[in-house]
Amino acid sequence: MAAPLGGRGAPHRPVLLRETIQFLEPERGGLFVDCTVGLGGHTEAILEAATETRVIGIDRDREALSSASERLRSFGQRFRPVHADYREIDRVLQGLGEWMPNGILADLGVSSLQFDSPTRGFSFRFDAPLDMRMDPDSGQETAADLLLQLPEDEIAAIIFRFGEERNSRRIAKWIVESREQGKPITTTKELADLVARAAASGKRWQIHPATRTFQALRIAVNQELEGLGRFVETAADLLQPDGRFVVISFHSLEDRIVKQELRRLSGYCDCGSRSRAPVVVCTCGARNAVEILTKRPVVPDAQEVDANPRSRSAKLRACRKL
Ligand SMILES: C[S@@+](CC[C@H](N)C(=O)[O-])C[C@H]1O[C@@H](n2cnc3c(N)ncnc32)[C@H](O)[C@@H]1O
Repeated sequence: MAAPLGGRGAPHRPVLLRETIQFLEPERGGLFVDCTVGLGGHTEAILEAATETRVIGIDRDREALSSASERLRSFGQRFRPVHADYREIDRVLQGLGEWMPNGILADLGVSSLQFDSPTRGFSFRFDAPLDMRMDPDSGQETAADLLLQLPEDEIAAIIFRFGEERNSRRIAKWIVESREQGKPITTTKELADLVARAAASGKRWQIHPATRTFQALRIAVNQELEGLGRFVETAADLLQPDGRFVVISFHSLEDRIVKQELRRLSGYCDCGSRSRAPVVVCTCGARNAVEILTKRPVVPDAQEVDANPRSRSAKLRACRKL
């Protein structure tokens, strides 16, 4: 099967594919849920592992779903695409009359399809309306809406928290000054140019100065961190005994939430002691529901980062349902 392109002619490469498959063990057959099907790379490998394997592929981006469906057409009924937010995974499974999957995968963040789109506003490489919504049908506010409506300190907080941008205050100030002068920031180019002027230090750039601001706005627009901890818990609860859960994150805030939630589900409570009881023993809700399979997060090797620089910040964590 030909690999779909990840834009600009580059083949799409699923991140940490070998490791994901090792942890999920799809060769055992049964039902798997890919919560972030994207271009379908991980799902394809899951389906190829055994003829008895089925995948429910969730994504909130219809464009991604139709691309994945095209790629996975030869698997017929074994692949079921679902347009939804993965934070509703329990309702999705209930609606399909399915329960207790053997494995669940969440490869968080933005896909190549979105990032390489010249029209959706995720990247400053293309001049486009400043949209950034993964689900344009959602009625959510766009990045341009946020920059038009939010007070300066909230814009600064978003850019600092989600982008770790040192110049967040200055960037926010310039954005608000521009809108007060009747020139709201509505396109990727306008934002990239403003940030480059506000944040450039005169040194040579390692990365484009707008990279962090774009990442921060994308996380805010799509509310990527909201409900992530609860999702991890729901997914772990849905699995059948010995089922596997794999999460790949690309941002330290995301990874911290996943790590803390998995620790709690493996019996570590907020007060630091390890519970041995099989039921909730602490007010923090710590319980022995899963075994963590990754003491440290698994990261891509140098070869993968070389072949796919976008994988460089990926961290994979996995657990097994008890
Ligand atoms: C990194 S990509 C996944 C790539 C995929 N594993 C592959 O091999 O092609 C992340 C995908 O998750 C989707 N996504 C992000 N947040 C989501 C959410 N809350 N619910 C459903 N899908 C989401 C995005 O639309 C994007 O297509």
